[in-house]
Amino acid sequence: ARYNIAVVVGSLRKDSFNKKLGKALEKLFPAEFSFTHVRIDDLPLYNQDDDGNPSEQVKRLKGEIAAAQGLLFITPEYNRSLPGVLKNAIDHASRPYGQNAWAGKPAGVIGISVGAIGTALAQQHLRNILAYLDVPALGQPEAFIQAKEGVFNPDGSAGDGIKKFLQGWVDQYVNWVKTHVG
Ligand code: FNR
Repeated sequence: ARYNIAVVVGSLRKDSFNKKLGKALEKLFPAEFSFTHVRIDDLPLYNQDDDGNPSEQVKRLKGEIAAAQGLLFITPEYNRSLPGVLKNAIDHASRPYGQNAWAGKPAGVIGISVGAIGTALAQQHLRNILAYLDVPALGQPEAFIQAKEGVFNPDGSAGDGIKKFLQGWVDQYVNWVKTHVG
């Protein structure tokens, strides 16, 4: 079987650590996994008035989620929560009521930040949202990564200090997706 994973990164920043974490993680997956990088930077602000007439960007978002067997959320922490741009994307694809594109898709939640608690609170808020949206999110292992020297190698791969840990995380995520998708 082949598995297409929709990767949603909660940072729009060009040199985002979370974008880099996504790239480093992808190198650790088995060959039957491929990735769709979900674009969220051009989505309008969610407005319920538009539910009946969604923009092309929103249709694209929902189409990419629908075509994926699994979800991978990689997010920074903003003010002890998830960034608004990520919440905006989640809200878009959850509507109109009854047409929640996220439902039932197995998910992984991971993130990197400069702070010592490494996105723990952002991830916890995100898990709360995912629970409501009927998204089964991998519970263990948790992964709270702090951005510091050597986290990534110059070629973008995971640094020596973290590679084994990330491989273990990916292995559990792979099992999680396969268990749910079959
Ligand atoms: C932050 N940052 C941050 N870090 C953290 O660990 N906990 C937090 O609550 C916050 N809050 C916060 C709010 C806002 C508005 C900004 C812009 C930043 C710092 C954050 O970890 C840092 O900017 C990362 O580099 C963001 O991730 P990306 O963009 O590198 O992926």
